[in-house]
Amino acid sequence: MSGRIPRQFIDDLLNRVDIVELIDARVPLKKKGREYWACCPFHNEKSPSFSVSQNKQFYHCFGCQQHGNAISFLMDYDHMEFVEAIETLAQQVGLEVPYEQGQAPTKQNAYTDNLFTTLQNCTAYYQAELKNHSEAIDYLKQRGISGHTAKNYAIGFAPKGWHHVSGDEKLLLESGMLIKNEQGKTYDRFRHRLIFPIRDRRGRTIAFGGRVIDPEDNPKYLNSPESAVFHKGEEIYGLYELKQVNTQIDQIFITEGYMDVVALAEHGVTTAVATLGTAISALQIEKLFRTVKTLVFCFDGDLAGRKAAWRALENSLASLKEGRLARFLFLPDGHDPDTYIQQFGKAEFFRLAQKASTLTEFLFDELLSQGEIHSPEGRSQFLDKLRPYYTKIPLQSLKDQILRDVEKRLSLELDDRLLQIISGEPARIINKNVIPEQHWTPTRLAINLLLQQPSLATQAGNLDELLETDIPGVDLLLQLFDQIHESPDISPQNLLARFAGHEHEEHLYKIAAMTPAMLDENTEIEPMFQDAIRRLRQKYVEQRFQKLNQKLLSGGQLDEFEKQEYRQLQHKK
Ligand code: UTP
Ligand code: MN
Repeated sequence: MSGRIPRQFIDDLLNRVDIVELIDARVPLKKKGREYWACCPFHNEKSPSFSVSQNKQFYHCFGCQQHGNAISFLMDYDHMEFVEAIETLAQQVGLEVPYEQGQAPTKQNAYTDNLFTTLQNCTAYYQAELKNHSEAIDYLKQRGISGHTAKNYAIGFAPKGWHHVSGDEKLLLESGMLIKNEQGKTYDRFRHRLIFPIRDRRGRTIAFGGRVIDPEDNPKYLNSPESAVFHKGEEIYGLYELKQVNTQIDQIFITEGYMDVVALAEHGVTTAVATLGTAISALQIEKLFRTVKTLVFCFDGDLAGRKAAWRALENSLASLKEGRLARFLFLPDGHDPDTYIQQFGKAEFFRLAQKASTLTEFLFDELLSQGEIHSPEGRSQFLDKLRPYYTKIPLQSLKDQILRDVEKRLSLELDDRLLQIISGEPARIINKNVIPEQHWTPTRLAINLLLQQPSLATQAGNLDELLETDIPGVDLLLQLFDQIHESPDISPQNLLARFAGHEHEEHLYKIAAMTPAMLDENTEIEPMFQDAIRRLRQKYVEQRFQKLNQKLLSGGQLDEFEKQEYRQLQHKK
């Protein structure tokens, strides 16, 4: 952790933000029991193991063990730096981050800083080269792109030749600008190509796409490889540029190519973005929905286009919260957004966009095309197919809309049996975190309860004697006590944060994330805690008594203190 921001401020911040709200905006959560649940955003899974605790303000995945608080969530999920995550949270709750004197506010990771600088230098180099090469300018002209648009998108040109880019070789290799061959020689990745810089939401170049200008060359497009600053499945081409020129955005067009984005911008449609040659991911969709309420996916009208659209539909469902709309625009045969707007213009493009299918229309059209619905079997098959999509939608009003559409499109009335087919949730999910009672050793229970209500520690008295026992986990419990005695009013989230990087951090989160089986909303935790402590003390008594007994049995002598202790222990037992 950085020492530049006072710990007191971080404590305060963690006490003010609500992690459930924070995560729910990115990964829709469902309340089950005391905790909130979702499929884990950090590993692939079909049933939810990712739990978020409102009370303790942390998350923990029972599948992959990923865990942490609001700060680490932003770092892991949104790939923010520590300071950036703090700034973001502070802004949300209206706090100003106090930096300890003499420190620059955002001095971050020097390594990624250097990568950014390297990529920025390359961007400037390519842009300068574009001006020097008429063949590149001619190519852009021929594709209908003006100098103005080229500048807005920082389009550049990589000339022919193998050794143009300059800078620190290691950084050029790490960022993929250079390639090393088997002989250990390095050469430029991008040669004789039009260059599209891919920029992050702060406008920093993180990668490039390069298009051939000689139709004989291949591949047609080449992208930078993944690097510390470029994660292909997460970035969106054109999002930064879009935000630069638009203050109010009603809808975003999601296309498949760089040229689609710049051609649309050329014709005044500056709200288009593109994925980078991959199917759009749920993460990218969620990112876009955080910018705008309506997404219009643009696809070719052919089979490949419909398949890609279906993937987009599947990956959208979980993001469909209040007010959000996903629409699907299929272009006429042989067209992509680029060729369409070049041929027919902006007005015609918008007319077409007006007719884009809603998500439910597309969903029904697709499923209805897969089988007949004139027989009872056909209809229940349809509902079977609908179920996985229907149940993924978090918004009840949209689900109700779908049910009404089912009745209309299938001309039937949904009775209980049919409703069961559509919404029947497989029973296996739920309650991964309930551990059978016998697994709750008094140590675990005490740790769990302390993490819910740290002030319990003040009622436990001195527990140092427990150090003499060999009860597993008791040292961790005592460390918790120490922390609480140091700051008696500490909140659960601050208490957990004290153990960042601790050797037992993971274990601690695991215990914190479990719910004792006997604990429901109304259980009083104080007596439970007292009881756990009483059992621990009892264990100590037993172990100590046994030890002294053994000494006696093996013919040893007890000194005065031990004799007195022995009598006391006998009494306690
Ligand atoms: P398309 O082949 O549809 O190209 O690829 P396009 O966008 O219409 O490009 P133009 O109009 O011929 O210039 C769509 C996207 O797929 C990725 C690129 O990101 C491209 O923008 N792609 C395509 C590659 O990464 N490599 C390729 O060889 C081709
Ligand atoms: Mn094209």
